[in-house]
Amino acid sequence: MKTRFELNGRAVETEAPPRTTLADCIRHELMQTGTHVGCEHGVCGACTVIVNGAAVRSCLMLAVQAQGAKVTTVEGLSNDEALSPLQAAFRKHHALQCGFCTPGMLTTAHALLTEEPDADKARIREVLSGNLCRCTGYIAIVEAVYEARKAYRK
Ligand code: FES
Ligand code: FES
Repeated sequence: MKTRFELNGRAVETEAPPRTTLADCIRHELMQTGTHVGCEHGVCGACTVIVNGAAVRSCLMLAVQAQGAKVTTVEGLSNDEALSPLQAAFRKHHALQCGFCTPGMLTTAHALLTEEPDADKARIREVLSGNLCRCTGYIAIVEAVYEARKAYRK
């Protein structure tokens, strides 16, 4: 089934079967493998991408539902030249270890700070509570997101 949407600022078209999840479409059809797939049933948050400004679990959305949407994956948060301020804060605070959860953490945090650049630590924890990390203990992740807030203020 032909589906057209915008992926990281580029118009894309896919003919994935109707049952294909957006996560599988992004990874296997469109070869943007930064989006990770963990639980495949909406629990871990590793597959989070941004659809029309909202953080969305791409394992729970069908690719056909993205018709006409603007989709941003972790690859779309920065360019090859430099890390985004959010990514740089993750590096500075050692907010990742194995990195499996990191694309979902970054996309979730980016969607949050775009809407709420003054989010306090309690709000950051609340929003990131749907993203599981087996390595870091979360403190460094919250610190990194908190520090990145200034880059999102207009
Ligand atoms: S893979 Fe989508 S929430 Fe875990
Ligand atoms: S850094 Fe390993 S799961 Fe989060």
